[in-house]
Amino acid sequence: MRLVLVGPPASGKGTQAEVLTNHFSVPKISTGDMLRAARAAGTELGKQAEAFMAAGKLVSDEVVIGLVDQRLSDPDCAEGFILDGFPRTVPQAEALDALLARRGTPLEAVALIDVARELLVERATLRRTDKRTGQIYHLKYNPPPADAELVHRSDDLAETVAKRLDEYDAMTAALLPYYTKAGLLRRVDGVGKPAEVTERLLKALG
Ligand code: AP5
Repeated sequence: MRLVLVGPPASGKGTQAEVLTNHFSVPKISTGDMLRAARAAGTELGKQAEAFMAAGKLVSDEVVIGLVDQRLSDPDCAEGFILDGFPRTVPQAEALDALLARRGTPLEAVALIDVARELLVERATLRRTDKRTGQIYHLKYNPPPADAELVHRSDDLAETVAKRLDEYDAMTAALLPYYTKAGLLRRVDGVGKPAEVTERLLKALG
C-alpha cells in the first residue's frame, strides 16, 4: 500500500496512520513527527523549522521534500508506506510524484479525513501524547492511562490551532483538486469513533 493521508490539523491522521501501519504492515511517515524529532534533537533543520511550527505556518517545501525523499529510500519503505501530513502543497505533491516515478512505485490512493473546523479545535487542544511510546490520546475522547508521560504539543494552544487551520485552508485545499484530477482521492467522514473512521477508510481503500 502506498497511501497519503490528508486532512486538517487534528482530523485524526496520526491516529488512523497508527492503525493502518499495522493493518498494511508498512511504515507510517509523519513529517510533523520528523520535524518535532529534529527540533528536539536541536539539529540545524530542527532550528530552521521551529519558528514556522510555533507560528502554525508550513515549513518550506524544500525542507520537507528532502526529508521524505531520504526516508522513502530506507529499505522498510520498499513494500509501501503511509504518508501522514505530506504532501501539503501542490509543489510537494508534484515532487512526491516525481520521486515515486523515479522509483517506479506510484501512489495508490490519497485519503482525505473530513472533519468540520468547529470540532478540530477541541480535538487539538485536548490532545496529549505519551512521550515514551508516541501514542496519541485525547483527554475527553481517548483518555490516557494513569502512568502515561504526557506531552502537550506547543502548537496545540487554541490560538496556534486557529492559525494552523487557516494555513491548511490556504495551502492544502489546492491539493484536493490535484488528487481528484489524478483519480486518487477518497473522501472519508472523520466524525465518529476512531474505529468507525478506520472502517470507512478500509472500505474506501478496498
Ligand atoms: P503535523 O504534526 O502533521 O500536524 P497536523 O497536520 O496539524 O496534524 P496533527 O498532528 O495536529 O493532527 P492529526 O490529524 O494527526 O490528528 P490526531 O490523530 O493526532 O504538523 C505539525 C507542523 O509541522 C505543521 O503545522 C507544520 O509547521 C509542520 N509540517 C508538517 N508537515 C509539513 C509539510 N508536509 N509541509 C510543511 N510543513 C509541515 O488526532 C487529534 C486528536 O483528536 C487526538 O487527541 C486524538 O486522540 C483525537 N481523535 C482522533 N480521532 C478522533 C475521533 N475519531 N474522534 C474523537 N477524537 C479523535
